[in-house]
Amino acid sequence: MRPPSPAPHPRDEFACRVGRPCFVVARAPGRVNLIGEHTDYNEGFVLPMALEQSTWVAAAPRDDGHIRVVATDLDDERTWSMQDWSAARYPAWTRYIAGVAELLHRRGARLDGADVLIRSEVPVGGGLSSSAALEVATALALGTIGDRVLGATELADLCRSAEHEFAQVPCGIMDQYVSVLAQAGCAFLLDCRTRTWEHIPLDLHGHTVLVVNSGVHHALAASEYALRQQQCRDAVAFFRQRDPRVRALRDVSADLVRQHAGDMDRVLAARARHVTTENERTLAAAAALRRGDLAEFGRLMSESHRSLRDDYQVSCPELDRLVEIVGAVPGVLGVRMTGGGFGGCVVAIARDDSIAAVEAAVHEKYDATGDGPAHVIQTRPGAGAAIEVSGV
Ligand code: GLA
Repeated sequence: MRPPSPAPHPRDEFACRVGRPCFVVARAPGRVNLIGEHTDYNEGFVLPMALEQSTWVAAAPRDDGHIRVVATDLDDERTWSMQDWSAARYPAWTRYIAGVAELLHRRGARLDGADVLIRSEVPVGGGLSSSAALEVATALALGTIGDRVLGATELADLCRSAEHEFAQVPCGIMDQYVSVLAQAGCAFLLDCRTRTWEHIPLDLHGHTVLVVNSGVHHALAASEYALRQQQCRDAVAFFRQRDPRVRALRDVSADLVRQHAGDMDRVLAARARHVTTENERTLAAAAALRRGDLAEFGRLMSESHRSLRDDYQVSCPELDRLVEIVGAVPGVLGVRMTGGGFGGCVVAIARDDSIAAVEAAVHEKYDATGDGPAHVIQTRPGAGAAIEVSGV
């Protein structure tokens, strides 16, 4: 991961690459989920934090119905007519921009085209929500151009719709909500049913949040993600037959799953066990954070990993290996896979004086079978999305 916003400023890069001044620069962060995995689409609880690394979008209006995008990291540039974009004809990354533009247009933005420059500090395909960061920064920038600045939850919901409708990823609400609403220095506890949240100060008292990228791209993620959602719906149907008030696994306790484990499908019972225990762990982790009990927080993280590995089965050998390597270093309080799974990153809480040992252990013991060596990244909770420059 590169350091935040390397020079030149996206505003200047826009002027240089597009040949005229930009009108707005927006920034939206990626995220790492501390705990609460695969609970958001079950109307449960999540506890992510925003990264300090963001995606930046600089833009200026056009009046010819075309969107031209310069993607600096990909060294790619594309232009399409807003009437005429189609997923089949343009690279995958354009769907986030085309989707957000179309949804803003449907909500009354006066958008008749735009020049857009994108620069991202969030690694793509690492499970750190680079797509949510791109959607949110684009929505802020194009919304400003189109004179349609959305409220925070409206913005997050629009970006999630873009992901569903245009990228065909049936994700939950966590990534877009934390990218929009995070506060620097805080973890973000979100109740995905009521859509209410709490900023919990992440006081780490001599500890650091570490993110280690396995280098494995989550190739299976899309099909397995949809399958897990279906299995959760099937588990809900089982419990609803017994209690019509059950609308989501949020309404089921871990105890109830335990009681019924013998009379339900074995796989569904395991999926429901993960979701219900993970909801309990997330609330317990939030409570531990509020009272400064980092040891308990770390223990819950490690338990979360075992549940994701054994009951929800969304880990992979590389993630398990990293968890094992990092978890064995003295001073590491807890470690787990983070994000959708099947690749991407692990997240750990480690004592500051053990970071060098974590780096050495990963370097010596982890065989990078994916795209390259695993990097240990030290992170702090960053701020949510913002318009950085407007009316230039
Ligand atoms: C992906 C999705 C999120 C969430 C996580 C799993 O990151 O985008 O909505 O479901 O997986 O917790």
